[in-house]
Amino acid sequence: MTFAPTTPRTLQLGLVLHGVGAGWGDWRHKDAVTDASVNFGFYKAQAQLAEGAGFSFLFVADSVHITPRSSPHYLNRFEPLTILSALAAVTSRIGLVATVTASYSEPFTVARQFASLDHISGGRAGWNVVTSWLDGSARNYGRPEHYAHDVRYRLAAEHLDVVQGLWDSWEDDALVRDKATGQFIDADKLHRLDHKGEFFAVEGPLNISRSRQGQPVIFQAGASVDGKTFAAERADAIFFHADSFDEARAYYQDVKARVRAAGRNPDEVFLLPGFRPIVGRTRAEAERKYEELAALVPVENAIAALARPFNDHDFSQYPLDEPFPDLGDLGRNSQQSTSDRIKQHAREHGLTLREVALWHARPKRSFVGTAEEVADEIQHWFEGGAADGFNFFEALPNSSLKDFVELVVPVLRARGLLHGVLPAETLRGNLGLPVPENRHTRARREAQQAVAAARAEGVEV
Ligand SMILES: Cc1cc2nc3c(=O)[nH]c(=O)nc-3n(C[C@H](O)[C@H](O)[C@H](O)COP(=O)(O)O)c2cc1C
Repeated sequence: MTFAPTTPRTLQLGLVLHGVGAGWGDWRHKDAVTDASVNFGFYKAQAQLAEGAGFSFLFVADSVHITPRSSPHYLNRFEPLTILSALAAVTSRIGLVATVTASYSEPFTVARQFASLDHISGGRAGWNVVTSWLDGSARNYGRPEHYAHDVRYRLAAEHLDVVQGLWDSWEDDALVRDKATGQFIDADKLHRLDHKGEFFAVEGPLNISRSRQGQPVIFQAGASVDGKTFAAERADAIFFHADSFDEARAYYQDVKARVRAAGRNPDEVFLLPGFRPIVGRTRAEAERKYEELAALVPVENAIAALARPFNDHDFSQYPLDEPFPDLGDLGRNSQQSTSDRIKQHAREHGLTLREVALWHARPKRSFVGTAEEVADEIQHWFEGGAADGFNFFEALPNSSLKDFVELVVPVLRARGLLHGVLPAETLRGNLGLPVPENRHTRARREAQQAVAAARAEGVEV
């Protein structure tokens, strides 16, 4: 099957709301707001700035286990659906994408929560479906042990089936609400799910109807083979990490091929690498900011960051200046793809622990420069088959977003890559995705069409 693009492509930008920053030292930067991760005013200002600049969505990451060695943002932060519900009230067009783990949540609750956010925001909700990589998560949810990596993806697929099934409980005209006749609902258009599977048993129906975008948009970030397959089959938008254009292009081509193989339209699945632009009015100013950022990552912080994809493994037990330790299978049940990549990089380049940690945690050189240079790089990735847009991580706390909006956004607009005002009021509308027809309405329509076709051929039905 071949698919033609439905609309001219526009850059899709997401803003990662990351409070005090993704690293261990960001909060100490002179511009950082030290309680930003639990500061509603801070998030409100960032959300409104991004919406005015034409970003398509806000994204809130999440996990459900900490230790004292977790990064400052992870230690003390808002629950995603709660903060996004509050931001829904102070924005009007930007999408609201919340991370919720399938491994430690009940699909009935998740379906209700996202359907509520979707109504509150007028059709702007998105769900980033994750499987959780930290094994301590199990201990916060009364489970004897963390699910294995492949089981987590099997569970996530079933969880998503249930949630999407529940979201279609109500056909769009099921709520009659006729004061004159006293009819509140058309019970024929309210549907139970009656799901019984390997992990979940859910009767339904859901106690909330669909919003005007039909169903929330599905985001995912699989990078292992299981993860990429799941994302290609199920997600509308996919996040990934890539350090260079070539790496991004390889991932992009691989996952678009998987999307095509799954019988889906690759133009309706958005692949969005994370990026951390550092922009200056001159090249020298950008370089100075890069050095400021690198200084926030001394080796102790780099070691803490390195631990993350290895289930918060304690790397302080190894000598810093000897070859990277042999870790066996460590990390394979956590962030499999990232930990595999780190081990491979260390092996291929014969690096010490110090070198690996600094390589992993220090900012990369892509997207550092003047507004024109950063816009050139964005355009190169976008037009060169490596990205459909980007997920913006703020490099320097409380300043990189302002710089980007002030300096780079006008250049992107002048080049016709980014719209002025967001064109629609729903997330699907802004991504150019169709509203999915309710499955029960579709089944009835198809049955009626089959009867009409049979009658037209003179068959008695
Ligand atoms: C931009 C981006 C954001 C992510 N956000 C989260 C998150 O909020 N919570 C989480 O548990 N995992 C998050 N992940 C991790 C992925 O869900 C996934 O575990 C990871 O990419 C490794 O893929 P794998 O599980 O297929 O090995 C994120 C990944 C990326 C690239």
